[in-house]
Amino acid sequence: MKDLKWWQKTNVYQVYPKSFLDTTGSGTGDLNGVTAKLDYLKTLGVGAVWLTPVYPSPMVDNGYDIADFTGIDPSYGTMADMERLIAEAKERHISIVMDLVYNHTSDKHPWFVDSAASRDSAHADWYIWRDAKPNGEPPTNWRSIFGGSAWTWCEARQQYYLHTFASAQPDLNWENPAVRQALYEAANFWLGKGVGGFRIDAIVYIKKPPVFADGEPDSDDGMVNVHSMIANTPGILDFLHEFKDKVFVGHDIFTVAEANGVEPKDLDKWVGDKGAFDMLFEFSHTTLEFPSGEIWTQATGYTPNLIPRLKKVLTDSQKATAHNGWYPIFFENHDQMRCVDHYFPAEADKKLAAKAMATLIMTLRGTPFIYEGQELGLGNVAWSSIQDYNDISSHGQYQLALGEGKSESEALRLVHRYSRDNARTPMQWTSEKNAGFTAGHPWLPVHADFREQCVESESLDENSVLSFYRRLAKLRMGGEVAEVLQRGDFAELLPKNASIMAFKRQLGTTAVYTLVNFSGEMRAYDLPELTETKAISESITGSQVGRLRPWEAVVYVGKAGAKS
Ligand code: GLC
Repeated sequence: MKDLKWWQKTNVYQVYPKSFLDTTGSGTGDLNGVTAKLDYLKTLGVGAVWLTPVYPSPMVDNGYDIADFTGIDPSYGTMADMERLIAEAKERHISIVMDLVYNHTSDKHPWFVDSAASRDSAHADWYIWRDAKPNGEPPTNWRSIFGGSAWTWCEARQQYYLHTFASAQPDLNWENPAVRQALYEAANFWLGKGVGGFRIDAIVYIKKPPVFADGEPDSDDGMVNVHSMIANTPGILDFLHEFKDKVFVGHDIFTVAEANGVEPKDLDKWVGDKGAFDMLFEFSHTTLEFPSGEIWTQATGYTPNLIPRLKKVLTDSQKATAHNGWYPIFFENHDQMRCVDHYFPAEADKKLAAKAMATLIMTLRGTPFIYEGQELGLGNVAWSSIQDYNDISSHGQYQLALGEGKSESEALRLVHRYSRDNARTPMQWTSEKNAGFTAGHPWLPVHADFREQCVESESLDENSVLSFYRRLAKLRMGGEVAEVLQRGDFAELLPKNASIMAFKRQLGTTAVYTLVNFSGEMRAYDLPELTETKAISESITGSQVGRLRPWEAVVYVGKAGAKS
């Protein structure tokens, strides 16, 4: 069996720096705040921290609109702060992982400013420019992912430019070798600073189709989601392999690409021995409520049949990487709702729900990615007006909903469930004012019940979600069970059961069994091979083989196949 790499044996923690810890009183978090909490992260078995973008940015999309790929936004601190963070992290065996947003830049990036100035400028061909239709309309009917046309008119050039996301995020022209070279240089700059890896944003959109044509409208606005028109265009892998050769090869780092729409069957071209990346984020388990593209008005909301489908997609992805490639295991990030509200109905016990998801994230095969606040069991928020929301996509989807004839309160309900702000509220450290996140005015409201759900209180309570995460993290970090969790095979158990997710991880003769009850009722099951096992993690004490109490999650260890 091949040796595992360091990043296959550790936990990764995602920090959304704007909401992590503010050390200046500005109301937004900063790099020194991350440095201050490295010891905290160590208690969760963290060996790498993925920082969402901290580069200079007008913050139209909270940093995913970058104006300089090799700088630090002053709101986050300085390059010296960044260097200190990397160094202090290294002392604790933590690698800092940067977010590369290479599909687009900010419209304030000097490359775009120059490109937009005239058709003859030095950067004229660095973005995607097209003439208007004869009637002056945008070149195609593509809707940007944040709502509204994916094209914005530029007076100076008398042309439209393409933006997959907001109009302040113009798409780069990857066909131009000078663009690619500049991007590779920026990534190499960060390798020179000693970062331990990259998360690569929205990579499936970098290759555009050779001909731009209207698509079949998917909503009353006559437009079609740009995702369905440009994602994973053939030829994309050539770019990605060049990227790998020019940047990643020869470094002891990991890469994880955000690759919405790459299915398990195509995985070998993307990850593994011949793949462009080490891991990729695919979203089949987070988009189950969206039958066709992420249009909020078309979402189904939570229904119990989400669970058998969740089981299926998780199982498929485990199988897809059984022999080649590796998955990040994640249920949350800065774009998703909180998992306790995602996979559980409103009436569920949210503490048990959080422990159930913790059990899965730590026992499935792959590298666990914990998103800040997930380890406290944080849930969604529901603010009273769309004006309270900062997230640009919430505003776009709200408008789309109104355009389809929904009432304001119906549109707001969708925002409550799907807004990315659900995951972006300030991290909850203490039971003091603003949860200890800031001495100033927090940029987004802190959860009302932060006094119970904060690092300080949960650390004192051995029954808390945080203590539960810490115990599971310990199980993964060393000893026989850790070996099984890191390297063991995966086999699904109870495949026909609609509300229990169960699987076995096996290495040699040792097996670790995970069982999670996604229902609010007691469930019996029949698994004779569990008779001679012992429980090593219980979300409710007193677990018994053969039955699961409402929302219960349990992990057993034993000799594989002893009584099968
Ligand atoms: C990715 C990021 C998201 C961002 C978008 C545009 O999906 O995760 O936060 O808005 O790309 O860069």
